[in-house]
Amino acid sequence: MDFNFKSAINHINEGVVTWSSPSNIALIKYWGKKESQIPENPSISFTLNDCKTTTTLKYSKKEDVNHFSFEIYLDGEQKDDFKPKIETFFKRIEHYVPFLKEYHFTIETSNTFPHSSGIASSASGMSALALCVMSIEKALSETSSSEDEMSQSYFNKKASFLARLGSGSACRSIEGDLIVWGEHKEIKGSSDAYGIVYPYEVHDHFKNYQDTILLVDKGEKQVSSTVGHNLMHNHPFAKRRFEQAHEHMSKLIAILKTGDLDAFIEIVESEALTLHAMMMTSLPYFILMKPNTLEIINAIWAYRNRTKSKICFTLDAGANVHVLYPENEKDAVMEFINNELVVYCQNRHYISDQIGFGANQIQ
Ligand code: DP6
Repeated sequence: MDFNFKSAINHINEGVVTWSSPSNIALIKYWGKKESQIPENPSISFTLNDCKTTTTLKYSKKEDVNHFSFEIYLDGEQKDDFKPKIETFFKRIEHYVPFLKEYHFTIETSNTFPHSSGIASSASGMSALALCVMSIEKALSETSSSEDEMSQSYFNKKASFLARLGSGSACRSIEGDLIVWGEHKEIKGSSDAYGIVYPYEVHDHFKNYQDTILLVDKGEKQVSSTVGHNLMHNHPFAKRRFEQAHEHMSKLIAILKTGDLDAFIEIVESEALTLHAMMMTSLPYFILMKPNTLEIINAIWAYRNRTKSKICFTLDAGANVHVLYPENEKDAVMEFINNELVVYCQNRHYISDQIGFGANQIQ
């Protein structure tokens, strides 16, 4: 699939489109990429439900078609510091959506989670913006004839493809509830270019899986993901790590089918710790976990030993802890979190979320 823009059939002077797109949490981690946002290994994530970015894109035709022209607002406040990232994104996707320079854009965005929560907004933010751009493509290229109608599947694939060029993990936020990105020999249709809905059987244990995000450190990350990914070049353990991700994916296919939660926990926690181990063994090396991250991990292990719960943790590129558990344990785990884990959170803050089904257009 080339994802090239076919042709603009309709002349549109101005318009407005809004999408709401969720964040996602990887079970098998993307860490390390090649040129053009191509991942070094396949990853898989749960799409979240409540952690979302809503973006409104207003567009109006302009005379000068030599430059990108846009302004961006977060919660109504102009954010010029977001501009370089958007400019890079537009440059990367321009070839596939060549109408970008013909319009001036006003981007209005807001997140359901606090900006300073340490929760990455790049996955939800870039996917929401990519979807808005796709809606413009659709408006420009569709006619009333069914021949020109853009299929839902093409729309989602290209949206994921564009989102990837903004931020790798963003390509896993278009749909739900389990999304694979990156080619894996046992997953039919998997691609380095975009995310796909996990195509095989998933046991009921994983339906409505819960994710409570413990906000250990709400500060800005000291090391950006982009820098971290690049440190996987010439990393002493990179080759073995990328192989391991493939092996974990093979194992996970069987686990998702049989609902073996103990085996699921082992892979998910190993992936989280491996991600951070890669950071600790790169050059320069760095540590994103905080003392309270480790306190929480130890408390989760103790609780699991004590109660035989199927609770487990995973980590992003930061100090916050995602606590994952089956829906039928919700009451018990929330009691545990409130009694034993909130003390390790900044201002006792956490966000309750669960598996979701992807982005929505807001009319
Ligand atoms: C640790 O998608 O933020 O969350 O492609 O450079 O924008 P860029 O990186 P990004 O990396 C996220 C990495 C991760 C693991 C994951 O989500 O798979």
